[in-house]
Amino acid sequence: MTARLLPGGPVAERVLADVTARVAALRSRGVVPGLATILVGDDEASAGYIRIKQRQAAGLGIASPHAHLPAGATQEQLVSAVRGFSVDPAVHGLLVQHPVPGHLDHDAALAGLDPDKDVDGMHPVNTGRLAAGLPGPLPCTPAGIEELLAFHGIPVAGREVVILGRGPTLGRPLALLLSQKRPTADAAVTVVHTGVPDWGRYTRRAEILVAAAGVPGIVRPEHVRPGATVVGGGVRYEGRRLLPDVDESCAEVAGAITPRVGGVGPTTVAMLFRNLVDAAARAAPPD
Ligand SMILES: NC(=O)c1ccc[n+]([C@@H]2O[C@H](COP(=O)([O-])OP(=O)(O)OC[C@H]3O[C@@H](n4cnc5c(N)ncnc54)[C@H](OP(=O)(O)O)[C@@H]3O)[C@@H](O)[C@H]2O)c1
Repeated sequence: MTARLLPGGPVAERVLADVTARVAALRSRGVVPGLATILVGDDEASAGYIRIKQRQAAGLGIASPHAHLPAGATQEQLVSAVRGFSVDPAVHGLLVQHPVPGHLDHDAALAGLDPDKDVDGMHPVNTGRLAAGLPGPLPCTPAGIEELLAFHGIPVAGREVVILGRGPTLGRPLALLLSQKRPTADAAVTVVHTGVPDWGRYTRRAEILVAAAGVPGIVRPEHVRPGATVVGGGVRYEGRRLLPDVDESCAEVAGAITPRVGGVGPTTVAMLFRNLVDAAARAAPPD
């Protein structure tokens, strides 16, 4: 058996088409959604990531004010830049490019951001909202996985989902998301990690298996239930080389699987812009 592929590109296209229409509607009411970015230092790769985000934003009709701080900037300067955007009514979301120089604390600086402008959905307040089932910006990669499964018609409700990894970006928030009461979630979710050495016992049971460990090749065919859906979220980069958690040979056992490249990644970016337009819509004056 060779598994059906579940690409993320068409999922992102559909989400971004919706974002484009909503941005146009907001602009026609005089509201220009704004995604601010902060870069500290002169790392070429980081500057490149910011340029990509700014180009994507421009293509969607979103403004992208930017602050560039010197590599030697102090924590106070970073916090002050975050606060400035946080109170700026023209800004609806903020990204601080990661990594920041070693003497700075990225998470501590972002803690000062208005949680409603947290387009990554990772602010502690938004993690709390997710855990409590309250509305708020959703963490992008988990939300992208829910969207990807729904787009490709993979039923989740009532099914057994096993997530390998309980990290803050992916495994833990995804478990919270997919166990919520909603037609595209509503799953029986199990989370396994290094505290469960025989985790294969659980993954072999899974109708949907999500790899979220960041350990290249950790998920092998013997960990997959025949016919299951396998979602590869965890990746590690060695230089520019992407090393996924899911070994390619899993496609011989799975019923459906995300491709090695172009699976979860594109949906993550789309969810960031969805969070941004949601934030702009919330901040807009009533019609
Ligand atoms: N595709 C995308 O767009 C995208 C976006 C964001 C993140 N990611 C990827 O998602 C992955 C997870 O990130 P994260 O921040 O949520 O998690 P993380 O902090 O990197 O933690 C990894 C998790 O995997 C578990 N784990 C690691 N090795 C294991 C092993 N040998 N056996 C069992 N469990 C193991 C760890 O268990 P313990 O808790 O017991 O240590 C931990 O819970 C990373 O690879 C990241 O690159 C991908």
